[in-house]
Amino acid sequence: MHHPRGEPGESGSNLISVTRAFIVRRNSEAMTDNRSILVTGAAGRLGAVGRTVAELLLDRGLPVRAMVRREDDRAAALRAAGAEVVLGDLLEPADVYRVVNGCRRIYFGMSLSPGYLEATMTMAAVAREVEVEALVNMSQMTVSQMSIQQTTTSPQQRQHFLSEQALAWSGLQVVTIRPTVFLEGFFLPLTSPSVRDRGRIELPFGQGKTSPVATADVARVIAAVLADPIPHLGRIYELTGPCSQDMHGVAREYSDALNREVVYSDIPPADWERELKQTGLPEHLIRHLLTMADLNRAGRYDRMSDGVERMTGRPAMSIREFVSLHADAFGGRR
Ligand SMILES: NC(=O)c1ccc[n+]([C@@H]2O[C@H](COP(=O)([O-])OP(=O)(O)OC[C@H]3O[C@@H](n4cnc5c(N)ncnc54)[C@H](OP(=O)(O)O)[C@@H]3O)[C@@H](O)[C@H]2O)c1
Repeated sequence: MHHPRGEPGESGSNLISVTRAFIVRRNSEAMTDNRSILVTGAAGRLGAVGRTVAELLLDRGLPVRAMVRREDDRAAALRAAGAEVVLGDLLEPADVYRVVNGCRRIYFGMSLSPGYLEATMTMAAVAREVEVEALVNMSQMTVSQMSIQQTTTSPQQRQHFLSEQALAWSGLQVVTIRPTVFLEGFFLPLTSPSVRDRGRIELPFGQGKTSPVATADVARVIAAVLADPIPHLGRIYELTGPCSQDMHGVAREYSDALNREVVYSDIPPADWERELKQTGLPEHLIRHLLTMADLNRAGRYDRMSDGVERMTGRPAMSIREFVSLHADAFGGRR
């Protein structure tokens, strides 16, 4: 194509007007870009991260593609809330391609499982191919204290460590979320039976301190990132609850919330292991939980960060507030 050669000044102004036209087109594309935000692991239990992220994004009026494994009442609830529900397995590359294609931003998280690293790598390969603009990766706080020389015995933490490494090499625009232990995912299922039946938190956590965080808060941080990812690209967000305290302090918060005495009983690790095995939990999860207990006794869960408040403008939920909200599961208030 022939371009008439102009005067030097002209070519400069041509360049400026072409650049302006390009910027205007890019801006209008961005404004009309209604490609969905993909949320994986979107079914989850009540209070699970993916499910809450999907709900929060829909509340903001953003288009959400919610990935679930099967068609059930959780899928129906997501659809009723306005999400585009897609079925798939994160360990099946063709499923991942179909689900990711057409999305610009992704929350990637799924249940603790032996295939976690493989699922992360499959997601990374697909996200590179379809040129995703932001990938929010769920990880764990312990990873900040891990290295090749200093690993842990948890197969899940090892996979998160390697996943973070590989994502850093991938060239993708990643935002890393490293929460400490979840109130919903750990304290609710694993302490409610003994608190309800015996008024005791029975865990082999020694005298170590901990600062559990509500997944509701973690999800609020992730939703804020996905709604406006550019300022967060490349960042790592460590998320904890509002204070770090030993398990006697945790038990006092339970007592305040339930208006009855709850005490901490530091049980032998072998008893807890026997108990976990009786529940029929998968071996991968049991090994992870036993590592968590070891790290707790070693003071490795004594961590504090103001990430939740900084990112959402609201302080992180306290244990007392959490137990009050779920009082029935803990045997009710007196
Ligand atoms: N629990 C904690 O204390 C804690 C603390 C820090 C970080 N984390 C991290 O948080 C993440 C877990 O978050 P969460 O508790 O919100 O998750 P979750 O509820 O346990 O799992 C989310 C969903 O993942 C889905 N899923 C599992 N395997 C899948 C597969 N192959 N393909 C597609 N979907 C699959 C499950 O589907 P189904 O419901 O159909 O099984 C589930 O609904 C993990 O990365 C974990 O390391 C957890």
